[in-house]
Amino acid sequence: MDKMIEIKNGDALELFKNIKDNSIDLIVADPPYNLNKDYGNNSDTKSFEEYIKFTEDWTREAKRVLKPTGTIYVFMGFRFISYLYQILEKSQKLNFNNWICWYYTQGIGKKKGFSPRHDDILMFTKTDKFTFNLDSIRVPQKFYRSVNNMRGANPGDVWEFSHVHYCQENRQNHPTQKPEGLIERMVLASSNEGDIVLDPFSGSGTTLRVCQQLNRKGIGFELNQEYVLMTEERLKMPFTGFDSIDPRMERVPNDLNDPAIREEYLLNHIEWFLKNHNGAKDIFYKEVEAKYGQKIAKEKSQKKTIQKSIFD
Ligand SMILES: C[S@@+](CC[C@H](N)C(=O)[O-])C[C@H]1O[C@@H](n2cnc3c(N)ncnc32)[C@H](O)[C@@H]1O
Repeated sequence: MDKMIEIKNGDALELFKNIKDNSIDLIVADPPYNLNKDYGNNSDTKSFEEYIKFTEDWTREAKRVLKPTGTIYVFMGFRFISYLYQILEKSQKLNFNNWICWYYTQGIGKKKGFSPRHDDILMFTKTDKFTFNLDSIRVPQKFYRSVNNMRGANPGDVWEFSHVHYCQENRQNHPTQKPEGLIERMVLASSNEGDIVLDPFSGSGTTLRVCQQLNRKGIGFELNQEYVLMTEERLKMPFTGFDSIDPRMERVPNDLNDPAIREEYLLNHIEWFLKNHNGAKDIFYKEVEAKYGQKIAKEKSQKKTIQKSIFD
């Protein structure tokens, strides 16, 4: 196993006890939502009171182990999101920062009522002095304007990422595998290289895989031993890019009319937005061709004509 990554098999509430106070930079927690999913261990079928107590207990431990500069992100479904907010704010007295909506384009259909297309993610910090690397998580602008920051815009709090589809190579045999691109944004924003990231409900190992590729130390807890083995295999796979991307990362700004500015921007775009996303580069190149291909060809032929007229 990778020296930077540890996965522990067992109950998070027990495993937390081995983690020192104020030692973790970032917690990415994706607990069971208590919606009767089959994780092979009945962990998702608690009574209302049991689930609230479970949430109180693990979030208390999460607060204890977070560094004063630390951040916690918690995924949650509709049934317990309002209680989770109360617990993080009122019981644990953590600082609210963001209520993020993870928007996915596909999911189960409802006949009566609206088909759910999002999960919520709460971001709380331990104090008001927390790590946040905005430049690492910006998204491309829609237009080139000299007043726009072409390094990119703040991605906002509605994040679109597709689920990892069954036909994708990186799809694991786990019922609630999260997209790597989504976790990548949390890890880049709220930790630095070499920092320690804890995922107390690590499932198929998405957070650990992201930490491995972004040079963070990752610790995962997982109750189901099969998922631990699955994670160990996943961590050995060759890396060909994260399995999902915010579609805005592939967009090419309009109005890049000045050839010098365009050339510099397009080179930067790949470094700024498509690092770790090899699969997205082809789509990006196609969009560059569609938007600017004719212009670039015309500019090249004009340049040749000018050069020729100098030597004639
Ligand atoms: C929502 S899933 C996490 C999915 C993960 N984020 C991924 O991308 O694969 C929750 C996981 O928590 C595990 N789990 C449930 N209760 C647990 C507990 N008390 N301690 C540790 N893991 C637990 C389940 O087995 C399940 O794999």
